[in-house]
Amino acid sequence: MFIYVSLILEDMNDKKIPLKFRLYSMVYPMRIFFKSLTNKVMGGEKMGNFNLEGKKAIVFGIANDQSIAWHIAKKLNDSGVQIAVAYQERAEQLVKPLLSMLKNPFAMKCDVVDDVLLTEFFGKVEKEFGKVDFLVHSIAFAKKEHLQGKFYDIDRRGYQVAQEVSSYSLAELTRRVMPIMNENGSIIAMTYYGAEKVAPNYNVMGVAKAALEASVRYIANDVGEKGIRVNAISAGPVKTLAASGISGFEQMLEHAREKAPLKRNIDADDVANLTLFLCSDMSKNITGQVVYVDAGYSVMGI
Ligand SMILES: NC(=O)c1ccc[n+]([C@@H]2O[C@H](COP(=O)([O-])OP(=O)(O)OC[C@H]3O[C@@H](n4cnc5c(N)ncnc54)[C@H](O)[C@@H]3O)[C@@H](O)[C@H]2O)c1
Repeated sequence: MFIYVSLILEDMNDKKIPLKFRLYSMVYPMRIFFKSLTNKVMGGEKMGNFNLEGKKAIVFGIANDQSIAWHIAKKLNDSGVQIAVAYQERAEQLVKPLLSMLKNPFAMKCDVVDDVLLTEFFGKVEKEFGKVDFLVHSIAFAKKEHLQGKFYDIDRRGYQVAQEVSSYSLAELTRRVMPIMNENGSIIAMTYYGAEKVAPNYNVMGVAKAALEASVRYIANDVGEKGIRVNAISAGPVKTLAASGISGFEQMLEHAREKAPLKRNIDADDVANLTLFLCSDMSKNITGQVVYVDAGYSVMGI
């Protein structure tokens, strides 16, 4: 941990790093240290609620301990699943300390827009794991300036980037995982209600999520004959790094809490629990679906 703190302090000399992030980076290693201590003392959440002992999963999308993908990886691991983590290089310092909380993880940097890294990653996973059972796609990206203002102001490149990272990547990752995926496997992607209805400021991400949800249905049809299932989880708003890029996110949280039948927000563990269900045999005849975990928000008309 001390080496890690000094690495962070070295980075602090860079004047371009905002103060908020500097403070966050200083507190982060301590938070992870105490979390990992508690994890050791408590011995993890043995078996979770589903026994997936002996299964293997690839998880894309861990940026820090708040990431939905981190909560999924941890819960899957606690249920007996060995995890291969694909993380972006820029998140390395925040992801590495988390790995000590997983049992026998494999982790490597990867980026869904980089063919060389993708080939290396899937090659290494095959070498380490042989076959895998689950693929978790928990990634999205759009420039901050495209998550505010008018949707039609988006430029061509901004639109392409959002689609490539947030939607096309599901087809790309599926194509690469298929040769090493066991029959009856499960692929899960993360989406949001802004794919169906207008959520102010969500803009280009709403359009990318609409494409992602349609991709889920087409891919489900492509891989169904191997018993492999593909589903999307439509999660209510959760405070994460990606969410903080959406203008007015705090109001989204408040609005969701007030309007939802259950009068509360969800958290990343709710998404992880649903992921476990969608990985398990309990959902063996569910595919091509968008499944909601949003405290009921999406059923409301007005
Ligand atoms: N947080 C929410 O309110 C919410 C609600 C519904 C759906 N989602 C979806 O959940 C998923 C996870 O987001 P999160 O909220 O946990 O935020 P997050 O910032 O923790 O995760 C986003 C991840 O995407 C990864 N990523 C971005 N570009 C990438 C690239 N080119 N290659 C590889 N990885 C890349 C980032 O490294 C990061 O790990 C996203 O698809 C998001 O749209 C989030």
